[in-house]
Amino acid sequence: MPGFELFGDRERKEVMDVLETGVLFRYGFDNVRKGNWKAETFERRLCEITGIKHAHLCSSGTAALSIALASCGIGAGDEVIVPPFTFVATFEAVLNAGAVPVFSEIDETLCLDPGRLKDVLTDKTRAIIPVHMCGAMADIPAIKKFCRDHGLILIEDACQSLGASFNGRYLGTFGDMGCFSFDAVKTITCGEGGAVITDSTSLYNRADQYADHGHDHLGGADRGADDHPIIGANYRISELNAAVGVAQLSRLQEIIDIQRRNKERLKSALAQFKEVDFRRLPDPRGDSATFLSFFLPDGSMARHIAPELAKQGVDGCFYWYDNNWHYFRKWHHLKTMKTAAALPIQKMGEGSGSPAYDYSTVSLPISDSIMERTVSIQIKLSWTEDDIKKRVEAINRVFGLFNKQTTGR
Ligand SMILES: Cc1ncc(COP(=O)(O)O)c(C=O)c1O
Repeated sequence: MPGFELFGDRERKEVMDVLETGVLFRYGFDNVRKGNWKAETFERRLCEITGIKHAHLCSSGTAALSIALASCGIGAGDEVIVPPFTFVATFEAVLNAGAVPVFSEIDETLCLDPGRLKDVLTDKTRAIIPVHMCGAMADIPAIKKFCRDHGLILIEDACQSLGASFNGRYLGTFGDMGCFSFDAVKTITCGEGGAVITDSTSLYNRADQYADHGHDHLGGADRGADDHPIIGANYRISELNAAVGVAQLSRLQEIIDIQRRNKERLKSALAQFKEVDFRRLPDPRGDSATFLSFFLPDGSMARHIAPELAKQGVDGCFYWYDNNWHYFRKWHHLKTMKTAAALPIQKMGEGSGSPAYDYSTVSLPISDSIMERTVSIQIKLSWTEDDIKKRVEAINRVFGLFNKQTTGR
């Protein structure tokens, strides 16, 4: 998963270009930047790679989600369907837009189940944010069709899935807008960074303006001459972060090739055990292979096996069901609405005596039954042949031991 593992001369060279001019700002300073436009270069290359028309680089994946929501006109009172298995940033962005995250069940893709979306559809639903978790795809054609049939906006959270595709088309390019993260642990990293992509020129213009205090960027070298068609925010990226990203983006295919090779080795080792069922991938060829996710027969086995694998040397082993950050079950701060300042959602129930949206009563039995059986192993780029062999041996030991204990042999 982490691009930081392949970090070296290319990154240093791009950063030095910026440091030599001292221009750390992505806009203006035309006469002194010696032709260095790292954020723009990154955006152009991301468009070339994904085949999309427009990309806007910003300060984080969370910023990308906020920019996408604002650009699509989603705000106070709108309901946005999201999955319960994601990083907290997805629902935070919806709440901070003044909108209401509505959780819908996942399926064995570990992403939103398109067949269940109708269960949470209301006359307030405006958008769906499927999250392509752990490097691979949701059933995106079915989700897109649901959006089309019900007149909903589709924003893809592809923060964990840069370079993954479905039927040869990159994730992030199916929706009205797609979002990526380039934080410290993502497929490629800028240190901190994110991007929104879209084929719509009007959505792109909104994104470009919203992310920079509403600047229309039509004033030429003089930023003061820009007009402000909308009220915006500051989600800008610095040229230093963008420079790292330009170098990292040039390594994307190499990163994915290594991940796919390494994942295949561990997958073959696990496939021998009858207890193991793998995550369903709607298009296995498009998996960016950042994680190997599998299901065990029940929660108690998964809860036992995950730490045991870690103890035996399979590092980066995740049991999401007990994890504070990636699954609804442990989001106590959301269930009790612990916020720094009142959000529009907290005002919605005012006067009625009870909150309009009470996450403490949300029940997701299907997602629970999937997540309690799920274990994921993070795939690293830096593994040597020896590292892989050791992990395969550890898998054999842990499952062998488990079988012995349960069969008494
Ligand atoms: C699914 C998902 N969405 C959004 C984000 C937010 O990205 P960032 O950390 O760049 O704000 C993350 C980061 O972990 C993520 O995994």
